[in-house]
Amino acid sequence: VTTAAVVPAAGRGERLGPGTPKALRDLGGLPILVHAVRALVSARSVDLVVVAAPPDDGGVDDVRLLLADHVPMANVVVVPGGASRQQSVALALDHLPLSVDVVLVHDAARPLVPVELIDSVTSAVRAGASAVVPVLRVSDTIKEIDPGGRVVRTIDRSVLRAVQTPQGFDRQLLAEAYLSAAAEGIDDLTDDAGLVERMGHTVVVVPGHEEAFKVTRPFDLVIAEAVLARRRSAGVMA
Ligand code: CTP
Ligand code: MG
Repeated sequence: VTTAAVVPAAGRGERLGPGTPKALRDLGGLPILVHAVRALVSARSVDLVVVAAPPDDGGVDDVRLLLADHVPMANVVVVPGGASRQQSVALALDHLPLSVDVVLVHDAARPLVPVELIDSVTSAVRAGASAVVPVLRVSDTIKEIDPGGRVVRTIDRSVLRAVQTPQGFDRQLLAEAYLSAAAEGIDDLTDDAGLVERMGHTVVVVPGHEEAFKVTRPFDLVIAEAVLARRRSAGVMA
């Protein structure tokens, strides 16, 4: 085992609305998490997948059984996640075998990530970058506002990028970044590369993909269903 993908999947999905944890909600007949794990398992560059599952009432065993119905489990491990995304990733990192030297972190909530994007992030790390993020240009103009809701400034869009996952890292560097964040009491970071930036290391970008978008709100699920329908009618296994 050399490249492992860590999958934070323990969130409730508050913005998607009340119900089952987001990773276990249905997308085209399968739980969102199944799609994400399937993509990672299918990627040539990934040797092991560690899922941080919702920890409550039998959650971990249920998730293991659920995945086993749809994905070859030989290289999939399910562990209990934590109270924040950062904690979930940290808990999953604790389960990596010593042989792992490259780690990808991929949100379960990005179920339609193309396999090519996963492999391209791994390749960039293997080529020598110690931290890699996939990015897209932003299409909306972004304005900074003050607490009263008045516009403070408009940010030059040409220098902005929206960041996706999987993000890829040299394993040692990511482990150090997580340890130092914990030591400083930081617990709410939603971006793994942000931890590495804080330590002063260079983060490299690769082109992201629109299908790697995160399912956050109900509207995103509508788009995800449409993307899946398009893939299925094109005869792609999904
Ligand atoms: N996540 C996690 N553990 C947590 C919180 C989030 O593993 N305690 C994971 C989510 O399952 C998701 C990813 O982090 O795959 C990205 O987070 P987000 O989209 O914010 O998911 P949720 O936190 O579940 O959604 P919300 O913020 O709307 O509640
Ligand atoms: Mg969240």
